[in-house]
Amino acid sequence: MGTNWHAALILIAALAGAWGALGQSNERCAVDGPRKDCGWLGINDLGCEARGCCWAPDYDSNKPWCFYKSAVASAYDMVSVRETDLGLEGELQLTTSGLPYLGHDIQQLKLSVQFETQGRLHVKISDWADSRWTVPESLLPRPSVSTAASDPLYAFNYQQSPFSFSVIRKEDGDVLFDTTEHSLFFKQQYLELSSPIAESAALYGIGERTRSEGIRLQRDGVPTTLWNKDTAAANADTNLYGSHPFLMAIAEGGNAHGIFLLNSNGMDVVLDKSTISYRALGGVLDFYFFLGPTPREVIQQYQEVIGKPMMPPGWSLGFHQCRWGYRNVQELDTVIESYRAADIPLEAMWTDIDYMDGYRDFTLDKKNFDLSQMRALVTKLHDAGQRWVPIIDPGIKVDTGYPAYDDGIREDIFLKDANGKRYIGKVWPGAVHFPDWFHPGAQDYWTAQLRQFHDNLVPFDGIWIDMNEASNFCQAPGEALQSNGLGRRGLSEAIACSHNISLRLNLEHPPYRINNAEKTAPLSEKTIPVSIVHHDGTFEYDAHNLYGFTEAQLTHRALEDILVERPFVLTRSSFSGSGQYTAHWSGDNSATWDDLRWSIGSVLNSNLFGMPMVGADICGFNLQTTEELCTRWISLGAFYPFSRAHSDHYPQELYLWDTVANAARKALKMRMRLVPYLYTAFKKANTEGGMVASPLWYEFPTDASTYDNSRQYLLGSGVLVSPVLEKGQDHVDAYIPEGTWYNIWDYSAIQGPQTAHLPCPLGEIQVHVRAGTIIPMQQPANTTKQAAAGPLDLIVALPPPGQGVKSAEQNVDQYAEGAVYMDGGAMAVNGPDSFTINFEARVSGQRGRLMAAPTFGGNALTAQHVPSLGNVTVLGVECGSQLHDPFWKEAATFSNVIVAGVRVTVNQAEYPRSSVMYDSQSGVLQLRDLNGDLTHGVVIEWGCEYSLATV
Ligand code: NOJ
Repeated sequence: MGTNWHAALILIAALAGAWGALGQSNERCAVDGPRKDCGWLGINDLGCEARGCCWAPDYDSNKPWCFYKSAVASAYDMVSVRETDLGLEGELQLTTSGLPYLGHDIQQLKLSVQFETQGRLHVKISDWADSRWTVPESLLPRPSVSTAASDPLYAFNYQQSPFSFSVIRKEDGDVLFDTTEHSLFFKQQYLELSSPIAESAALYGIGERTRSEGIRLQRDGVPTTLWNKDTAAANADTNLYGSHPFLMAIAEGGNAHGIFLLNSNGMDVVLDKSTISYRALGGVLDFYFFLGPTPREVIQQYQEVIGKPMMPPGWSLGFHQCRWGYRNVQELDTVIESYRAADIPLEAMWTDIDYMDGYRDFTLDKKNFDLSQMRALVTKLHDAGQRWVPIIDPGIKVDTGYPAYDDGIREDIFLKDANGKRYIGKVWPGAVHFPDWFHPGAQDYWTAQLRQFHDNLVPFDGIWIDMNEASNFCQAPGEALQSNGLGRRGLSEAIACSHNISLRLNLEHPPYRINNAEKTAPLSEKTIPVSIVHHDGTFEYDAHNLYGFTEAQLTHRALEDILVERPFVLTRSSFSGSGQYTAHWSGDNSATWDDLRWSIGSVLNSNLFGMPMVGADICGFNLQTTEELCTRWISLGAFYPFSRAHSDHYPQELYLWDTVANAARKALKMRMRLVPYLYTAFKKANTEGGMVASPLWYEFPTDASTYDNSRQYLLGSGVLVSPVLEKGQDHVDAYIPEGTWYNIWDYSAIQGPQTAHLPCPLGEIQVHVRAGTIIPMQQPANTTKQAAAGPLDLIVALPPPGQGVKSAEQNVDQYAEGAVYMDGGAMAVNGPDSFTINFEARVSGQRGRLMAAPTFGGNALTAQHVPSLGNVTVLGVECGSQLHDPFWKEAATFSNVIVAGVRVTVNQAEYPRSSVMYDSQSGVLQLRDLNGDLTHGVVIEWGCEYSLATV
C-alpha cells in the first residue's frame, strides 16, 4: 500500500510542479532582487528546486537560500467600508495575485474591526461568505461586546488601495502593527500577514517550545511552528505538544502589548530583526491586540478572550510522585511508605500506563494491579489525606468485548475518514480508534467511561491525559514506515495503521510546508492523519491543534459530574484556552543540566499562555538522573506551581539518596508552608486573570535588566526564586530587583537592584520575600490536609521606612499587605465554604499595627475551618535605629547597655512579654502561638520600648 501511495504522491508532485511551471513559465530566478522564503531550515537544492523555487546560497546575509521565483505579493483593495456599532466593516477585493505556487487567492474578503474594550482591539479578515474554518465558539466562546470602547488606548488606521492597516498606541504614537509595507495573502491553504516590530522590543510567547536561549524570542528568521506534536520536550527549539499563537512585546520604557492570532491551523510565525510574519495553513486571520500597558494587563486582556485559568483543588498544590514502570501495587505501596518513613511530603501517588490491562483505558491489570489491592491502596491513601491520580490516553484499543471500545462503536464516537471508515492508529495498546471530541455524544461517552472507572473500579482524585496531540505511532499515510523515537519497546512497526484511508492530498501536502519537526515532517506524521473527518465535517487538518484542548475540556466536565470536589486534570497537549480546564506539564524532558535550566522557561511560557498550574518532570524523565542534579532539581521543583517527580522507568524517588532527601525535606516543607500563599495566587489568577509564576519583568516591566532573565522567577508577586542551575556550583548570581528582599529561610535582607553572588550550597535554594508583602503560611506538614488543620502563620515583610510606602494614610512610614483565600474545595470559587482574610501592616514612627480582616463567601458558619492565627514574623521592625538617639546614648554608661524591645497588644490585650522575641540587629519581631481568632479579625499593635540593662 505504502508504495502505491508513494507513487501517487510522486505523480501529484509532478502535476503540481507542472502547474507551478505553467503559472511561472517565463520567470527567472531573481537572485539579486528581494527574496521570498520558499524553504525551511535544512532544505537542500534538490528539495528546493522540486518545489519550483530558486536555490542560491548566500553566505553574507541572512537572505533565504531557497526562495520563490517571484516575490510579487498578493494585494487587495478595500472597495467599501461602513461604520458599525463596534467599529467598522469593509469589503476587500483581490487586485494582484502573487505566488501562484501557494494556491489560488480568495477574491473577496471581509474585514471586521471591533473596538471591544479600552485595551482590546479585534481585527478579523475572513472570506466574504464566512464559510471558512474558525475555532468553534462552542469550544472557545469569544467575549460578547455590545458597544465600542469609548476612549480606547489604540487607534486603528487603514489604507484603501492597496488595503493595509495599522494599530497605534495613542499615548505615545507607537506603531504596534502595520501591514503597509507587507503582503496580505489569503489563499485557500495559505494566509500571510506581516508587520514591522520594533527592533528594541523584547518579545515572548509563541509556543509551545523548549527555548534553549531562554524565554526572550530570538529574531533569527527561523520559523516557530505551531503544530502539536509528540516530540520530547528535551528537544529544544522545535514544535512540541501545544499551540499558542500569542505574543507579548515589551517596548523600550516598559509599555507592553500582546498579539493573539486566533487560528488553530498549522502555522509558522517568523521573527527576524525587524519583522513578524504569520503564515497559516488555513482558517482566517483573526487578530486580537492587547494594549496593556503593563505585562500583567496584557495577560489579563488575553485571558478575557481565552478564559481565565482554572482554580486548582488545594490538594494539587502538594507534592506528587510518579514513575513510568511501577510494576505492581506493592511497589506503589513501598514508595508511599518510603516517603512517609523519610518524612518527605507526599500528597499524591500517580500511576502511569502500567496499571492498565494491556494498555486499555479504564481497566486494571488483573495480575499486578489487582482490583481489591488497588482499592485498598487508594483507601489507605485517602485515609492518610493523600490522593491517587491515574493516566488515561485517548486511543481506545480496537478490541470487541472491551466496554470502552464496544460503547464507542455503539455510540459511533470514533474518528473516521471521508468515506465513513473508522481510522485505526497505533499507540501503546496496539490498534486503537481515537474518540472524536466534536461528536455530540462524546461528552456522555467519556463521562460514562470515567464514571465507571471511578465508581466501579478505583476512586481516582484527578486524571492525567497524555498522548493527546494526538500521538500515533503510525507514519503519515503514504510515507515509508520507519521507526523513530517512539519506537521503544518494539511498538514502532505500524502494522495496525490504516493506510488505505480516503486521503485529501491537498490537505496531506499543502502547498506551503510548515517547519514541522524541523525536518519537513508531513503534517500527518505520527498523529491522526489530517484527512480524517470529524462528525461535523471538520477535517483534522483544521482541528488537529485542538485535539488535546477538547479532550481536556471534556475530561474536566466529566470530573465535575463525577467528583464532589473541584476537578484536577493534567494534560500534555494544549491550545490557547486550555488553562481554563487543565494543568500542564512540560512533557518528556531529560535528566540533564540543560533540561533543568530550560524547565524555568517552560514553566514561565505556560503561565504566559494561561496555564499557570504547570511544572516539569522533577529530576528528569528520560535518562538516569544523578544525585547532584536531582538534588538541585527538587530544590527548584518544590517551587514550580505544579510539583511532580516523574521518570521513565529509572527509580528516582526523592528518598533514594540522602542528599536528595535532605534537600527535598527542606524545600518541600517550605512549599507546604507556602500552600496558602500559592492557593491565593491561583485564586487571583482565576478571578482577575494573570500569571502565578512569572518572569521578573511581569512585576518590573521598566527594568530592562529583567528582560533576558530566564533563570529566576516570581511566585505570586512577593516570592522570588533563584536556583542553582549548573553542576558543581555553590553560589548563584541572582538578580535582585528594586526594593528590599528578605531571605525566606534566615530573614536576612538584601537591597535591589543588584546582581548578588549568593551562597547556595547543594541542598539549598535562594528564595526571597519582597518587602511590602504579607505572606500567609501554614506549619509544615506532609499533606495539605494536615497542614490545613493547623494555624495560619504570617511573614510581614516591611520595607525600610519610607521605601515603597503605598498607604494613602498620612504619616505611614512602612507598609505591607497581603491576603489569604481558603475554601473547602467545593467547585465554585468564592462559594459559601470560602473566605478571604486581608492583611495590612502600617508603621508610623515607633508604632506598628497589623490588621487581619476576614470576609466570607457565605458566612462565618458556612466557611470551612477558619484557622487561628499562629506565628507572626514581622521583618523590618526598626526599633534598634533609635539607639542612636542622644538621650539613649547619654543614658548608656560603662555598666549599662540599652536594650531595644517591643511591646505588643493583641486585640488591645497585653501580649506576654516572654512570648515576644525581638532582635534589634536584624529587625525581626517574632510572636509565637498567638491563637488569634481570625473568624472575627485580629489587630496586633506593637511599639518600640527601651530599657537599660546591667552588663
Ligand atoms: C508519554 C508521557 O509524556 C510520559 O510522561 C509517560 O510516562 C509516557 N507517555 C507513558 O505513559
